[in-house]
Amino acid sequence: MPIQPVADLEADATAEAGARFVELAAAFLAESAGGNAVVSTATPPASLAARFDEPLPREGRPLTEVLGRVRDDVAAESIRLSHPMYLGHQVSAPLPAGIWTEVVASAINNSLAVREMSPAGTVVEAQVIRWMCELAGLGEEAGGTFTSGGTEATFTGLLAARAAALPNAWEEGVGAAPPVVVCGEHAHYAVSRAVGELGLGMKQVERVPSRSFRMDTAALERTLGRLAADGRRIMAVVATAASTATGSFDDLIEIGALCDASGIWLHVDAAHGASALLSPAHRHRLRGIDRARSIAWDPHKMMLLPLSAGMVLVRREADLEAAFAQQAPYLFHGAEGRRWDQGTRSFQCSRRFDALKVWVALQRYGADGIAALHDLLCDRARELHSAIVAHPAFEPLHEPDSNIVCFRFVGQGADSHVVDDANRRLREAYNRSGAGWITLTLLEGRPVLRVTVMNPRTERAHLDRLLLGLAEEGARLLAGASA
Ligand SMILES: Cc1ncc(COP(=O)(O)O)c(C=O)c1O
Repeated sequence: MPIQPVADLEADATAEAGARFVELAAAFLAESAGGNAVVSTATPPASLAARFDEPLPREGRPLTEVLGRVRDDVAAESIRLSHPMYLGHQVSAPLPAGIWTEVVASAINNSLAVREMSPAGTVVEAQVIRWMCELAGLGEEAGGTFTSGGTEATFTGLLAARAAALPNAWEEGVGAAPPVVVCGEHAHYAVSRAVGELGLGMKQVERVPSRSFRMDTAALERTLGRLAADGRRIMAVVATAASTATGSFDDLIEIGALCDASGIWLHVDAAHGASALLSPAHRHRLRGIDRARSIAWDPHKMMLLPLSAGMVLVRREADLEAAFAQQAPYLFHGAEGRRWDQGTRSFQCSRRFDALKVWVALQRYGADGIAALHDLLCDRARELHSAIVAHPAFEPLHEPDSNIVCFRFVGQGADSHVVDDANRRLREAYNRSGAGWITLTLLEGRPVLRVTVMNPRTERAHLDRLLLGLAEEGARLLAGASA
């Protein structure tokens, strides 16, 4: 067939062609949400790679054929996050209005680097940021920008902290005695990664021990005192709300007071937990967040938006402008443009219109509707915790503050190294079965099972099914180990 690319693209731009993509996505969602499909397949990576191992296609193929492969080789081999037994990492079963907005945002395809390229987009992003700053109580001078997620948000917050601590660093580098970043032992790796990226050197990360999986504030006070006595400059303290491993919230009031007392920049990594600000029942967990100079907040986690949608918020928007002291006369011009341009305060140049799906979700479900879903996830985590407490095969490891629960399969009477090995293999065997999908983490050096409820379709019966499946699989593993 002769190549006719323009005709093909015009044919694919029709509503009929678009509907075929949407039908595929809707069927995937329905099969997943129905709960009858496996949560994941156990296809080995090499066999999956073999299906895609082909020469670069020089000629196009009919849409039916291409969509057939997306359905059979991509969707069918993907993890079904909308399945009620998906209880794994903090990636959401996405809100449908958020999913469909992706298509519209891509159709518009305005880059949000500069206002001249996205007249509506930059205004929508600024409005969403304003709402979130208000929820966090950051005040009149606050601002922020969308990011690819929590990792970029924490990098950006700490870059702003670096500009405040070392105003010449952009031109001259950080010098021979770079300042220190203090964080909790359970901080996400985004923090130490940012320290490396900012040229401070990983030796400048000071970790504060936890008490009940939260930063021990007495230990923080001692650490700050020791660093001051040693004459070391502190660039920032990073608090976590909530922590990746256990979903525990650091005490932001106490940490904020210690930072205020010494004039230290407080960054709150609330990538996971900031969405609790929407919830009257849970917002108390973030009391003190208004003391932060910068905050990371991921709507793609507990606001259930599809990847990706992250934000960094700052108490003074000018701090973010100072973070990227960038001149680009071909792109950034004029005071009015600069007010709306996102490129002047963002790590990115070409930028997706991720703010649109957050705006649409808030319009469609309302902040209260999203908060109700948030609360449902947390309620389920509490129910799971209670079921674990009552179950002889499991040991609870903490009270859930959010939607994350860590626990251990105990295996009656077995040695701790046998139990540790069983927990490690249990997670793997259970996920491989396709019945459900959970994660594993290390707490106090030992492997433990970890569940994150990310799907409002997960009900109590699913949690019972999870514990039954894990108990049976665990017993099989232990029997195998002692045979
Ligand atoms: C506390 C915390 N911070 C940062 C991140 C990283 O966020 P992202 O994956 O969106 O970059 C996570 C992800 O799980 C997290 O839990």
